[in-house]
Amino acid sequence: MEAVGGGDAEGVGGGWERLMLWTHVSWLLHPNFASRYPSDSFVSGFVFIGAVALLSAESYIFVLSNAKLSDGSRRPSRCFPNPCVASLVKTFEGDQMQPSDYAHEDIGNLVLLEHINLTIPDQSLATAFYVSGLGLTRDPYLMTGPNNMWINIGRSQIHLPHGDAQRLRGHVALIVGKRESLVARLRAVRPVLDRTAFGWTERADRVEITCPWGNRYDCLDPNADQANAPWSRIDLGIAYVQLDVPLGCAGSIAAFYREVFNAFVEVRDHNGSQQTAIAVGTHQQLIYSETPAANLEYDGHHIQIYVANFSEPYARLAARGLVYDEEPHQYRFADVIDPVSGAHCFKLEHEVRSLRHPLYARPLVNRNPDQSNRNYRMGGDARRGVF
Ligand SMILES: [Fe+2]
Repeated sequence: MEAVGGGDAEGVGGGWERLMLWTHVSWLLHPNFASRYPSDSFVSGFVFIGAVALLSAESYIFVLSNAKLSDGSRRPSRCFPNPCVASLVKTFEGDQMQPSDYAHEDIGNLVLLEHINLTIPDQSLATAFYVSGLGLTRDPYLMTGPNNMWINIGRSQIHLPHGDAQRLRGHVALIVGKRESLVARLRAVRPVLDRTAFGWTERADRVEITCPWGNRYDCLDPNADQANAPWSRIDLGIAYVQLDVPLGCAGSIAAFYREVFNAFVEVRDHNGSQQTAIAVGTHQQLIYSETPAANLEYDGHHIQIYVANFSEPYARLAARGLVYDEEPHQYRFADVIDPVSGAHCFKLEHEVRSLRHPLYARPLVNRNPDQSNRNYRMGGDARRGVF
């Protein structure tokens, strides 16, 4: 869900406006300006006032279009007060895409990685970690009691029902915002999370954070050089879920998601092993990374995905006897297999939902974690940016 407009259009618009602005400044300041209308003060004054008005309007547009909002995001291009400039930007944007580029617009059948489900034994500690520490938002509408908690992050969620702590066999990458604010929040909750597994390590492009029960969340630095990463255009959300799998599995897993889901899949080298990256929607990935010490013990945690074509993957999974828990608009499977040999590769429950599921695209509340009672700014409660 796009809360505000994209940055590319703005960059183009700012450049055009800057050019127009300085063209008129040069014209006004040119020494021949006064001599153009030496004998007609009325015409000279009229032209001068008109030029100043034009210059002021352009300055206004320029300042607006380049303004950064308080949370670091840019003002959306659709806020341009001048429709002529807006249409100019739109045309320029359109010119950059040729029909030969249209294939880049395609996505596979996987539309959204909506939630990760991990049981936890202590809702109070989870509140300190996910809400106060990571700066995320508890869903105010659903699962509001002490036995479950849904945590909003952009268009996605982390579901935390009460139970023994579950461990994801890998890590989750998040986009949560500015590193300085994040680290300040982590320092603030450290006393509360003392005597748990909580901790963090700052890396060049991310902060690796361990939750009170040992799950790792990598909060990717929004300023890191990730221009080609699919998540580079969002300000808040789950970027990817990465699972550690045994050596030799990446190719089979890639074939499984291609054949069962018609997903866009890439197998790539990573630290001497292979990684399978499965595209999910426009900005997420599900990654299976071959790891020598992969832990295959599975404790029942799950992920939930939305798919555009719901019935064909179901038929393929059912034909192999892999599907269970059929309900209206959703079914589940857990075994990821080699589609040719049938060999078992990995176990992870997938809650598969159609786009007709009532919860699909439900608007989620995302607060601005920098807002406090001490620095309160009217109108600043909601998180801004692209989700
Ligand atoms: Fe779920």
